[in-house]
Amino acid sequence: MLSANHLGKRYKSGWAIHPITVSFGPGMHGLLGPNGAGKSTLLRMLAGLLTPTTGNALLDGESVLQTYQCRQRIGFVPQSFRMYEQLTGLETIRHAIRMRGASAGSTSDRAAAALDAVGLSAELNRPVRSYSSGMKQRLGIAQAIASDPEVLIVDEPTAGLDPEERFRLRSVLAELSQTKAVLLSTHVLSDIGICEHIHVLCEGRLLFTGGKEQLAAHARGLVWHWETSESEWRRQPSDGIVAARRTEEGLECRALAMNQPYPYAIETEPSMEEGYLALISASTRHTR
Ligand SMILES: Nc1ncnc2c1ncn2[C@@H]1O[C@H](COP(=O)(O)OP(=O)(O)O)[C@@H](O)[C@H]1O
Ligand SMILES: [Mg+2]
Repeated sequence: MLSANHLGKRYKSGWAIHPITVSFGPGMHGLLGPNGAGKSTLLRMLAGLLTPTTGNALLDGESVLQTYQCRQRIGFVPQSFRMYEQLTGLETIRHAIRMRGASAGSTSDRAAAALDAVGLSAELNRPVRSYSSGMKQRLGIAQAIASDPEVLIVDEPTAGLDPEERFRLRSVLAELSQTKAVLLSTHVLSDIGICEHIHVLCEGRLLFTGGKEQLAAHARGLVWHWETSESEWRRQPSDGIVAARRTEEGLECRALAMNQPYPYAIETEPSMEEGYLALISASTRHTR
């Protein structure tokens, strides 16, 4: 199991990650947080690519940074990466496997299996330059899983993808999480849907670790629902509004607020997205 043990990183400007202790067991983990929360910093330390200021990243109790074998057991896809555009998908993965010191013999089979796992079997002989950004992202994942690591870490894979590719990528990751611990970071709220375990990071602090219901519970008592007309809507204050949906009669609104935001607003069950927003806004209010 991958874990962070008092793991922290400080730059000149301050702590990017305040010391954190948390473990990532089997299944799908979502690391959620706004831009600058420290997601990439934490993931790079967990993958053994960045030296922590304090503490350790451990895989089954062994230091990821100091043990080469540990790093072999962790696949990592960075937030941005470049591929050789003139190579085909298959050549890219074969090259990656050879770079890790594998013998030429089984390389093609393993590369084909990795490409199949990310749904790129039909495109394996096409040059990477003809791939869409979603396909490139999936190729990055194929590269990371080609040596069959136990843990897969993917930094913001869904950023900048269109809805169809985002859906595709999520299914690929969900499938991989059946046999590996998958840790993905995101600032896209709808990505939480596929995560069994959620970790919320904000300003370098881990605010929450748990399941979806527990996350939603953070907004209990704070979510209000009401219906209004278009003309009234324009006159209403928009503080805390988290959703507004047009209906036949007018608009249906949801807001996060300590007190009833509008005379006929009623308190309602929070969603996990609202739990997340409640956590983040409480945290940033404290530090402001
Ligand atoms: N190499 C670096 N030197 C100085 N500060 C950094 C460095 N890398 C990241 N940071 C700072 O650490 C914080 C967290 O960054 P990052 O981990 O990239 O966040 P996220 O991935 O959640 O957007 C930010 O304030 C960022 O400016
Ligand atoms: Mg990042």
